[in-house]
Amino acid sequence: MDPKELLATYTLNYLRGKKIIGVGTGKTVKKLIEVLSSEENLKESSLFVASSIDTEIELSKRGFKVLSLFSAIQPEIYVDSFDIVTKDGIMIKGGGGALLREKLLAYFSKYRIFIGESTKLKDTKVIDIPIEVISVGVSYVKYKLEKMGFTVKIREGSGKMGPIISDNGNVILDVSVKTENLCEFDRMIKNIPSIVETGIFCKELYNKIILANEQGRIEE
Ligand code: 5RP
Repeated sequence: MDPKELLATYTLNYLRGKKIIGVGTGKTVKKLIEVLSSEENLKESSLFVASSIDTEIELSKRGFKVLSLFSAIQPEIYVDSFDIVTKDGIMIKGGGGALLREKLLAYFSKYRIFIGESTKLKDTKVIDIPIEVISVGVSYVKYKLEKMGFTVKIREGSGKMGPIISDNGNVILDVSVKTENLCEFDRMIKNIPSIVETGIFCKELYNKIILANEQGRIEE
């Protein structure tokens, strides 16, 4: 079985019976929503909160009821994927540019699970961290980070369309950072005006990471 499908099927057990479910963004989550669409009970009795417009569209078109983030309702459970998990158990998210709403939901949910292929477990010395920045501050922030010695790329769409704009109207920078002390880097960097959020998810933002390997086994 495809690892994303395996993870989706496995995750069902965590979601059944939950009334308010927060949902992340990306291909893994898309597969999860596809698998969930045969769960009539969840369609009738559960409400969903989406971390992106993409996810809201996926949920709505399959007949799930989606609440606005403005409702400020607390999800009983939040499910999402990640781009990388380091050997210290720090997750990097934001490959799909939804890091701010994903962190918001992870922070405010009662229980948080993250699912992904075991190939996303990486032991690298340097890593690209997505950072969401208010557009008017992008040039200042880029200059400041480069002066601090970081390599900074403004995330662009394909075909020279200019910077990708997040669901919140902001720009995403990908900043190359050493993997030591990522959580300290996260706190430090948010002192720079215009930086809204980073894709660094430290341990207090999750309860469980569930991995699927290519042999079709699940590791919790
Ligand atoms: C989006 C994210 C995603 O969870 C991350 O990019 C993983 O996506 P995929 O399931 O497509 O590999 O953080 O902002």
